Amino acid sequence: MKHFLRFSDLDRADLEHLFARTRILKERFKNYVAYQPLVDRMLAMVFEKSSTRTRVSFEAGIYQLGGSSIVLNMGETQLGRGEPIEDVARVITRMVDIVMIRTFEHSNLERFAAHSRVPVINGLTNDYHPCQVLGDIHTYQEHRGPIQDKTVAWIGDSNNMCNTWLEAAPLLGFKLNVASPTGYDLAPARASGVAKAHLEMFSNPRDAAKGADLVTTDVWTSMGFEAENAARQAAFAGFMVDGAIMKVARDDALFMHCLPAHRGEEVAADVVDGPQSVVWEEAENRLHVQKALMEYLLLGKVES
Ligand code: CP
Ligand code: NVA
Repeated sequence: MKHFLRFSDLDRADLEHLFARTRILKERFKNYVAYQPLVDRMLAMVFEKSSTRTRVSFEAGIYQLGGSSIVLNMGETQLGRGEPIEDVARVITRMVDIVMIRTFEHSNLERFAAHSRVPVINGLTNDYHPCQVLGDIHTYQEHRGPIQDKTVAWIGDSNNMCNTWLEAAPLLGFKLNVASPTGYDLAPARASGVAKAHLEMFSNPRDAAKGADLVTTDVWTSMGFEAENAARQAAFAGFMVDGAIMKVARDDALFMHCLPAHRGEEVAADVVDGPQSVVWEEAENRLHVQKALMEYLLLGKVES
């Protein structure tokens, strides 16, 4: 049994399989061709944080594959009243076939997985958001071909998204340029050991974006860090991805944001709504990559 708790749980062959399956499943979806290998399979989704895209894409995805889903919001379950996460895992994984969890501490997810009888998917933790980066890389490759040897500029908080891009870079052979304000930069433990070919850190966002094939950012204040909002607004001044930053990237550079976006904070409206932005396709691709992921975790490397 396999889980998908972080990007590096997959190797390059797994990733290539998933991207190939995503293309096939997306094509079937676009052509109204039914494909239902997961009839009678049940997905449980546990949410300890808010969600729009993750919830809708997983719920629609399992339904399209023939299965169904249950949503468990923290406040409505015994988890919210202190039931140990290990016990919740032991109970619900006797009843469902696959689980997606969005939680705070990454260790909560690991504890759940350690007591699960079924595959567990990370729907976002404070440390990682691997389903999003799967969708992002698929989106890049749809537009521009293999991401290998390309440069991705991450501008902003060294958060769960940045950490996940950093795991993807050596696996898929691209370079990640990271520019974050002091105090919000990559933890040395994450950066150490990553080859220079796959990670370079900058203090100035324009330097990070120079010559990049993809420029990407995220909110300055992630879920769970709201108490730091005022300090973050001050620290991140100068880190908005605007036209001047996009101008130093390659002419054919794409812009991505996992959403929700805050126009006028981490991204200028004319960038997120502009011609280089692929944010809506990026969001849609969550549906397609996660269908491929659920198929893989439940059925293995299907070829049909
Ligand atoms: N990008 C993303 O995960 O969006 P939601 O928080 O709406 O699920
Ligand atoms: N970094 C953001 C991503 C939201 C999808 C957060 O964790 O809130």
